[in-house]
Amino acid sequence: ASTLGAAAAQSGRYFGAAVAAGKLGDTQYTTILNREFGSITAENEMKWDSTEPSRNNFTFGNGDRIANHARAQGKLLRGHTLVWHGQLPGWVSSIRDANTLRGVMNNHITQVAGHYRGQIHSWDVVNEAFADGNSGQLRSSVFRDVLGTGFIEEAFRTARAADPGAKLCYNDYNIEDWNAAKTQGVYRMVRDFKARGVPIDCVGLQSHFGNGGAPSNFQTTLSSLAALGVDVQLTELDISQAAPNAYANTVRACLNVPRCKGITTWGVRDSDSWRGNDNPLLFDRSGNKKQAYDAVLTVL
Ligand code: XIL
Repeated sequence: ASTLGAAAAQSGRYFGAAVAAGKLGDTQYTTILNREFGSITAENEMKWDSTEPSRNNFTFGNGDRIANHARAQGKLLRGHTLVWHGQLPGWVSSIRDANTLRGVMNNHITQVAGHYRGQIHSWDVVNEAFADGNSGQLRSSVFRDVLGTGFIEEAFRTARAADPGAKLCYNDYNIEDWNAAKTQGVYRMVRDFKARGVPIDCVGLQSHFGNGGAPSNFQTTLSSLAALGVDVQLTELDISQAAPNAYANTVRACLNVPRCKGITTWGVRDSDSWRGNDNPLLFDRSGNKKQAYDAVLTVL
């Protein structure tokens, strides 16, 4: 196949990109997006500060622009993200009463996942809840601190009811190295959820990598999580300076794991990347395919 999306589809996978609503009027951007990618993630437009900037005031304009583009172009749509400590409005992070926050969290999930019900193939229900470092525990956030660690399973149960057709993912970064305490913490949570029937279907590994790309045991991480009975997805892939071999090895690790169902790069061109001058994507600032693009297409 001659595009990323079509090549990935040969093995039943998707190849997607994060998209910004404000760039949908840029024809160079949309030409690449429409031609190459089979799945779209809203880079910011479905986050809490965009969708519920004040309590019970839901705003879906920019999220809908992206969803409409996906529908018009026949693309899959990923949902990102329902519960996250980042890009969270101050009116939420200042809540101190557990019953209030529980109601607010569940209402947010119900309204946002309900609005997009039937359109999203996979939702990042909870994003980045684990701490960095050696604890293997949840990080401090208003959700953990006020509701306790059970907020994650509550969020998944609420999301299942709001959109029963969507795969429900836990998404995080720095969980690609099998030996990292953070990876082991997520592994134990997923194992516990599966054992107790908490509705979780997938783990999203953000895959924001440095120059060297994925850790050498990345495939072990993917297959170990998959062995718990969940799919895995590379949800925000970018690799500093985009070495072709680093990209090829990362994509190969996914292809070697049957339950690795898709890959999303976090942007289209280097000029679209959140990582400034790292040039971590598959298209350059002029919209040309980079060497890493050819390496990925060859592996897919
Ligand atoms: C980033 C966006 O790319 C930026 O535009 C925004 O300013 C900050 O968030 N992990 C995530 C993504 O889950 O939502 C983040 O996206 C990158 C890190």
